[in-house]
Amino acid sequence: MITELNPNLKSSDIADKYISVRQYSATLCKPLITEDYIPQPVIYISPPKWHLAHTTWFFEEFVLKGYYIGYKIFDDDFAFLFNSYYNAVGDRVLRADRGNLTRPDVEKVYEYRKYVDDHMNKLLQNTDAKIRNLVEIGLNHEQQHQELFLTDLKYILGHNPLFPIYREDCNLTHHQNTSHGFLSIPEGVNDIGYNEEGFCYDNELAPHKVFVHEFEISKSLITNGEYIEFMNDNAYQRFDLWLDEGWNWVKNNKIDSPKYWHKIHEKWYQYTLSGLKPVHEEDILCHVSYYEALAFAEWKKMRLPTEFEWEIAAKSLDWGTRWEWTGSAYAPYPGFSKPPGAVGEYNGKFMINQMVLRGASSATSPDHSRTTYRNFFHPHYQWQFTGIRLAKNHKL
Ligand SMILES: [Fe+2]
Repeated sequence: MITELNPNLKSSDIADKYISVRQYSATLCKPLITEDYIPQPVIYISPPKWHLAHTTWFFEEFVLKGYYIGYKIFDDDFAFLFNSYYNAVGDRVLRADRGNLTRPDVEKVYEYRKYVDDHMNKLLQNTDAKIRNLVEIGLNHEQQHQELFLTDLKYILGHNPLFPIYREDCNLTHHQNTSHGFLSIPEGVNDIGYNEEGFCYDNELAPHKVFVHEFEISKSLITNGEYIEFMNDNAYQRFDLWLDEGWNWVKNNKIDSPKYWHKIHEKWYQYTLSGLKPVHEEDILCHVSYYEALAFAEWKKMRLPTEFEWEIAAKSLDWGTRWEWTGSAYAPYPGFSKPPGAVGEYNGKFMINQMVLRGASSATSPDHSRTTYRNFFHPHYQWQFTGIRLAKNHKL
């Protein structure tokens, strides 16, 4: 989040944005039945009900408690139940127990949202820059959870043997490349990081210069068809393509395809949020781990772009349907510093053992993308809407 106050953020703008972002969370939930709100099939998946309550708690904890005079907490237990990872604001329920919370019920969580929204709407009638900037963080936080809501819901429904349809018009993986070939970028010193346009998270701050050698980057993302060629070349049986850690992941978890792929009568199908569909070879690949992305690049005798190469090339690329794995480890930029207080726990403490992804995905919320955005996940995760873009050194 920004540490400098943004003087251009107007009271009316933030009040309008608050209503539209919060409404979008409710819109995403409309197709759900009550039972869909509860499951947590694995520890890293959060139930829809938890996302709805946690994003609400963020506004209650970080805005209303400090700045709404006379604010009365909605429920004293909710901070314990719906704090995610902020050590500065007290104890919390174990992450693995989020799916055990059949109480409070869904109706109560919607009451919580309404209660907090009513108070926030009053507060936002007349605010100073400090509050507006905090609210902007809260809204961007909720937008991140809206994407997580869709990725987590896909995991929940995609592991139901009935393969339920969330929405017929919400496939989110049926995209094709619009550009082909490689783009050549000359060597040079480039500006990296926040460009002072609008909101950014703290991990994009401390803009700095980075030298890159001449390189080439693909204008297209890898398609299902290209990935099937890789699979048909026994890639999941060949240790030489994989990092040692990746090879162990393949073996220990019996991985043989991207997530949500199922072979039925010798044909590949994939679960989508609009149900089980045939894998279209011309569609852009989705749901691969960093290990798979790197093994594919190895098989192609190329590599993944660094996050700096990606950012430099981004203005000339089509991006936004898949989070793109980069070859860069998630680390602080030189000059990075954690903001003071609990919000300092937002990004900085996760800068270890994760890889950077750039771009955005078809599940990313509206108005939540930019070329400097640094997403990050552990290398074995497949459940995000991830894809592969290749790069190579010049004239290879
Ligand atoms: Fe969160």
